Amino acid sequence: MDWGMQNRLSRIIKPDTGKTVMLAVDHGYFLGAMSRIENPAATIKPLLPYCDTLMPTRGVLRTSVDPATDTPICLRVSGGNSIAGGNLANEGITVDFEDAIRLNVAAVALSIYVGTEYEHQTLLNLSELVNAGQTYGIPVLAVTAVGKELEKRDARYLKLCCRIAAELGAHIVKTYYCEDFEQVVNGCPVPVVIAGGPKLKTELDAMKMAYDAIQKGAVGVDMGRNIWQSDYPVPMIRAIREVVHNGAKPAEAHDLFQQLKSEAQKEPVGV
Ligand code: R5P
Repeated sequence: MDWGMQNRLSRIIKPDTGKTVMLAVDHGYFLGAMSRIENPAATIKPLLPYCDTLMPTRGVLRTSVDPATDTPICLRVSGGNSIAGGNLANEGITVDFEDAIRLNVAAVALSIYVGTEYEHQTLLNLSELVNAGQTYGIPVLAVTAVGKELEKRDARYLKLCCRIAAELGAHIVKTYYCEDFEQVVNGCPVPVVIAGGPKLKTELDAMKMAYDAIQKGAVGVDMGRNIWQSDYPVPMIRAIREVVHNGAKPAEAHDLFQQLKSEAQKEPVGV
């Protein structure tokens, strides 16, 4: 692997633990101003020091992320769909590769929609990005299955999606946690990270999911709602870091969450 590609991957997946905590803030590209990310700059700022990589869209990056940050950026470069439109799977590439380079990204990300009428189109999107990524040494993260396709959230389907993404050259695959998740990871020859999905009932539930995913071979999380829709997002991301990087059990991570939460409650308003 070329030095530039290796260097960018090492900025995302930390060499000391082989793991990563990515923070997904790209949801607005098809979901609009959803709850707790209406003001992306305000959501992102306190979390940035605690994520290994931030995953925004181009618009959010330019408007809402301090360019002085040294946090690597995995730029969402697919879209063209919306929750109000016809078919969520109908995505194209939305960012010129040259602009991604200008933005100094560590990786680019897109969604693929295996098993839909837009399968071919989105898999060719992936191939096009991998070709450009190979030219410039920029890794590609493929996100499998969102929207309606999540109804097929089982190991058989996600294993198929992840393997196809890896076969087409994705350097990292992002998918959803499911029963028999080890089958998904074992069938995928590149690192797998999990999305959090819709906010779970409790923070502990999200910690358990992250823990189980790591135990079953994921290299980390690329989580959004379960972090920034928590009432205590910074304690939450710090607890998730303990699970991902230090192998903390969910109960241990939850103790840390509770401790950080009570410290946050004692802070004067406005600080
Ligand atoms: C979906 O296509 C987006 O990439 C989201 O960023 C992704 O689903 C991860 O966010 P969450 O943890 O909120 O599911």
